[in-house]
Amino acid sequence: MIDDLPAGLRARHLADEDHLRVLAVLDAWWGGLKGEAGATERALLLPRLYFQHFTTTSFLVERDSGEVAAFLVGFLSQTDPQAAYVHFVGVDPALHGQGVGRVLYRAFFALARSHRRRHVHCVTSPENTASRAFHSRLGFTASPVDSDYDGPGLDRVTFTLDLSAGPVTPNPRAGWQAPAPAREI
Ligand SMILES: CC(C)(COP(=O)(O)OP(=O)(O)OC[C@H]1O[C@@H](n2cnc3c(N)ncnc32)[C@H](O)[C@@H]1OP(=O)(O)O)[C@@H](O)C(=O)NCCC(=O)NCCS
Repeated sequence: MIDDLPAGLRARHLADEDHLRVLAVLDAWWGGLKGEAGATERALLLPRLYFQHFTTTSFLVERDSGEVAAFLVGFLSQTDPQAAYVHFVGVDPALHGQGVGRVLYRAFFALARSHRRRHVHCVTSPENTASRAFHSRLGFTASPVDSDYDGPGLDRVTFTLDLSAGPVTPNPRAGWQAPAPAREI
């Protein structure tokens, strides 16, 4: 499904039975960002419905041992036929900086393109400096901090990427090979 992950990792689409396994890693992977309020916010961002009704546009990465290594929850906009949305992404801190996040986004971009989507959107908390740096490196355009974007006290930075602007840089750490011209990314 995704062939440019680092060795020992494999990807598949998300499934219903992954819900609790993914919830279980959030606090450790987010490093306790924003304390208890942050933990509640994160858990509420991933209700089970995402593992039931958004599976074909979402990915789970596992180690050979079966342990959860990364995930991306995304979907195609129901409202805007040109848009796709990355709702939540996480990579095991032990694997940070190895291109796993980039590989997941590239897979999602390919999927979005195959559905003729032109833009990819996502949002993050202003405090999440890693997320802001990561999305900028991938070519997303960031908004200024949008106060109360998700409700009182829930400020956000929004990101947009134009898929027609060109391919996202491949993962240089995984011996990635340039795709044949017929493939879009
Ligand atoms: C953000 C996150 C998904 C990045 O995953 P990753 O697999 O480490 O990222 P990659 O290795 O694919 O990095 C892709 C690019 O982003 C850059 N990048 C990633 N994390 C970065 C950081 N903390 N600071 C600066 N740049 C960063 C990398 O340097 C790389 O750029 P380069 O190849 O041009 O040098 C990961 O840090 C994570 O899971 N964080 C906790 C959860 C989270 O905040 N999720 C996002 C909000 S929903």
